[in-house]
Amino acid sequence: MNIAQRKFDVLVIGAGGGGLRSALQLSQADAKVAVVSKVFPTRSHTVAAQGGMNAALANVSPDNWHWHMFDTVKGSDYLGDQDAIEYMCRAASHLVYELEHQGVPFSRLDNGKIYQRPFGGQSQNFGGDQAARTCAAADRTGHAILHSLYQQNIRAKTHFFDEFFAIDLIRAEDGMILGALVLEIETGEPLIIEAKTTLLATGGVGQLFRTNTNAHINTGDGLGMALRAGIPLEDMEFFQFHPTGIAGRGMLITEGARGEGGFLVNKDGERFMERYAPHAKDLASRDVVSRAISTEVREGRGCGENADHVMLKLDHLGKEVLSKRLPGISAMVQTFLGFDPAEQAIPVFPTAHYTMGGIPTDRYGQVVVPVEQGEESVQGLYAVGECACVSVHGANRLGGNSLLDIVVFGRAAGNHIIDYLKDNRYHRPLVSDGIDMAMQRLARWDKKGKGESVAKMKDEVQTTMEKYCGVFRTQDVLDEGVKKIMELEQRMADVRLQDHSKIFNTARIEALELENLVDLALATVSSAAARTESRGAHSRIDYPDRNDAHWLKHSLYYKENNRIEYKPVRLKAMTVDTFPPKERVY
Ligand code: FUM
Repeated sequence: MNIAQRKFDVLVIGAGGGGLRSALQLSQADAKVAVVSKVFPTRSHTVAAQGGMNAALANVSPDNWHWHMFDTVKGSDYLGDQDAIEYMCRAASHLVYELEHQGVPFSRLDNGKIYQRPFGGQSQNFGGDQAARTCAAADRTGHAILHSLYQQNIRAKTHFFDEFFAIDLIRAEDGMILGALVLEIETGEPLIIEAKTTLLATGGVGQLFRTNTNAHINTGDGLGMALRAGIPLEDMEFFQFHPTGIAGRGMLITEGARGEGGFLVNKDGERFMERYAPHAKDLASRDVVSRAISTEVREGRGCGENADHVMLKLDHLGKEVLSKRLPGISAMVQTFLGFDPAEQAIPVFPTAHYTMGGIPTDRYGQVVVPVEQGEESVQGLYAVGECACVSVHGANRLGGNSLLDIVVFGRAAGNHIIDYLKDNRYHRPLVSDGIDMAMQRLARWDKKGKGESVAKMKDEVQTTMEKYCGVFRTQDVLDEGVKKIMELEQRMADVRLQDHSKIFNTARIEALELENLVDLALATVSSAAARTESRGAHSRIDYPDRNDAHWLKHSLYYKENNRIEYKPVRLKAMTVDTFPPKERVY
């Protein structure tokens, strides 16, 4: 088959904040950059980030990057790599000002400085009083950042392939990545994009769970591509459940709501977080608050007819604060629940939110894999944002650190690629094997028939993950989850696009996404079953304690034989002393 072909210096797959920040750095340096996105870029999931971006500007409370670093290391339950965390926290303030200059309309204080709100797990002076570190554009911060970055990319002449789906990476025999095979969704035509470097920025995989805060597009496509290219995924057992999704539906009610003074109550009207986190209360880190809500419900103190949620009270904040600081969630509650949160409390329950694990990278965004003598980078491949694992979030990400992660490491990867291109000026010849493998993946979905439907299988993946790999975990339940997902994997052979008179051109895309979901479900639940301790978001009832002696290490999951290896955590920071692991209390 004669497949159309285009050549670029850099192929960026994914047009959220991470991809666009990298692309901008590169286009401004005159690299020829293609951004491939399966949706129109400003519909990428960064648009949904509400509460803000952390940086120690000290506009509202005393602050500095070192305190931010401490909070992030502690929040990660000491699994985060401290050199990468130092790098991120040091860069934060500069990058907020840079975004401001790129057009992000941050909310303001009366003195004109950027508004900052308190978020979970933030402290002054290494664990002291609550800090206010999250820079916000009301509760639509991701929207503001994504739109500004998109406009800056248009100005810098980045080339966009809108509504193209990435099928697979194209690999040379020696493992070097030469670009990717993509599919134009509207026409169903494949296209080879050759690139000297490829950067994955495809976001997380929140669609693994039935109730989640994520867009339908978050099916982990970059993670799936990495696995199929033989690259392991790091720390997949750590999946963040956001404490406050709208109960039963999952939509995000920002942590900013509690930052502005909202609080949680159980059926007795008790502010129960005072029992679980006497100091930080409702602003403890997310894993702590999610477990507390789940425990209240399990122990019979839930609200509503089915006693299956708790209530988030904002009514005492008043209409003015809500319309100024939280207009987005006020409108959402009105739309989906039919009332004004200035008058009534919101029913909430933990909801799947963020993939802490991902494609292993160094702090320049280079994808790294283990070799006998440590690690080496995969030539021509980078990853940033939620699909990557640097690892700055470790076992539990702090709210407000994901928007920071995408701009810090998006920029760092862009800078590193600029240097890489100076030494790698020519395209390597494409290999037909690499293209054939990607084409085979596509061809499989040309078959139509009467097998199981894609929608039914997706539903089963999501309900299985929710049931067997949720907030609280045990060996029996996780092992059963592994078994069930393996059965689903077997059944994939019988899945067919349904033989209707008309098949929409999105049907094949949904099938390709399902393949990614199944691979990532197995990676997540297998990694969780293997880790016999509790750390951050991975909470084992049968192993309630953190076990640093054995488990202070990152997991690496390989698709081949469902194999898991481990590598050490980088405890050594760049310039400051290590924060040694200690008991984590809020
Ligand atoms: O609660 C929120 O606004 C979410 C922020 C985040 O995940 O960083």
